[in-house]
Amino acid sequence: MITPVLLCGGSGTRLWPLSRKSYPKQFVPLVGDETLFQASARRLSGTTETLQFSAPTVLTNSDFRFIVAEQLQAVGIDPGVILIEPEGRNTAPAVLAAALHCHAEDPAAVLLVAPSDHVVPDVAAFHAAVARGMEAVAQGQLVTFGITPAHPETAYGYLELAITPDSSGSPVPLKQFVEKPDLARATEMLEAGNFKWNAGIFLFRASDMIAAFREYAPELMAPVEEAVETAKPDLGFLRLNPDPWGQAKDISIDYAVMEKATNLSVVPFDAAWSDLGGWDAVWRESGPNADGVVTGGAATAIDCQNSLLRSDSDQLELVGIGLDNIIAVAMNDAVLVADSSRAQDVKAAVTALKKKG
Ligand code: GDD
Ligand code: MG
Repeated sequence: MITPVLLCGGSGTRLWPLSRKSYPKQFVPLVGDETLFQASARRLSGTTETLQFSAPTVLTNSDFRFIVAEQLQAVGIDPGVILIEPEGRNTAPAVLAAALHCHAEDPAAVLLVAPSDHVVPDVAAFHAAVARGMEAVAQGQLVTFGITPAHPETAYGYLELAITPDSSGSPVPLKQFVEKPDLARATEMLEAGNFKWNAGIFLFRASDMIAAFREYAPELMAPVEEAVETAKPDLGFLRLNPDPWGQAKDISIDYAVMEKATNLSVVPFDAAWSDLGGWDAVWRESGPNADGVVTGGAATAIDCQNSLLRSDSDQLELVGIGLDNIIAVAMNDAVLVADSSRAQDVKAAVTALKKKG
C-alpha cells in the first residue's frame, strides 16, 4: 500500500495570466479537461496490477483548501487528510510533516510524494516505474525518478547515476544530486551523459525519510514535529500549529535532504513528463495541429503557425491572423502576447507588474 502525498503550495507565475497567486496553475485545466491537480490525484489513486494506493495526503495552504477539497470531490477521490500549512515554508517542512503524520498512523507507511502541477500522460508507464521503485524502497532507499534530459535546463535538479541502468529500468544507485545548476554546469552534465533530470517525485518509507531529516536537516525536526503533534482539526482539514511551523526553516527537500543523503536510488523514467514550466511547454503538451497551432477557449487562429492562442475570458474573443511563433493568452483582466522564444520571461514580467502595484 502506498500513500500518495500531493504537494499543492506553489504559485506558478510563469503561466501568468492564467496562473494567479490566488488560483495557481495546478487548479486550472491547462492540458485536457481536468486540472493538473485532479489528474495528479487520479494518477495516484486506486489499485493497479502491481500497486495499491491509499487515500491521498494533501499539503496545501489556507487559501487553497476549499479548491483542493472541491476538485478532489469532483473526481470522486476522498482525501485521507488535507494538511494546512499556516504559511509556505517550502517543500522540506511539507514533506517532513507528511512523513511524521503518516508514520504516526502507520509506522510502516510508504509515501509517494508528487507535485500537483506536472503532466505525465502515460499513467501505466508511470505506475510501472513506481512498482520498480518499490524494490529499492524495501531496502531502505529514498527513490527519485530520473528523466532523460533534453537540454541544459537550469530550473531542474540533476541526478548523476552511479552505474548505467539496464533495459529493465530497475533502480540504480545515485552518485550525486545537483539541484538547479548554472548553465555551464548544466551543459557539462548534459554532455557527460550519465545524468538525469530529477522529476521532483519521491518514493520512500516514512521512517527512512524521517531518519534522513534527523541526520541532514536536524534543525527542522523539533518545529515540524511540534506543528504536527499539536495540529488542530478545522472544518474537515487538519491545520498545523502556526507557532512552531513559523520557526521551521524555509528550504526545499532537494537542498535539505536530497543533495546530502547517501541512500538515494534512481528509477529511470523514459515516458513523457513535463512540469509545464512555461507557455512553450503548454503548447508542446497540448498536441499542436499540423501547422503547430494550439487554440483554446474563445480563440481562433487564421493562417497561423507554431502559435498558442487561448482565451479563458467570457468577454474577450481572441483572433490571430498570420501569426508565427506567438503566444497569446487572454483573461478578463489581462492579456499576454509574447514571442514563443520569450516564454520564460513571463516570470520577470509578473515580478515587474507586482512592483508597479
Ligand atoms: N504544500 C506545499 N508547500 N507545496 C509546495 C511548497 C510549500 O511550501 N512549495 C512548493 N510546493 C509544491 C509546488 O506546488 C510544486 O508542486 C512542488 O511542490 C515542487 O515545488 P517547485 O517550487 O515547483 O519546485 P521546482 O520546480 O523549482 O523544483 C523541483 O521540481 C523540479 C521538477 O519539476 C525540484 O525537485 C527539482 O529538483 C526538480 O527538477
Ligand atoms: Mg516546479
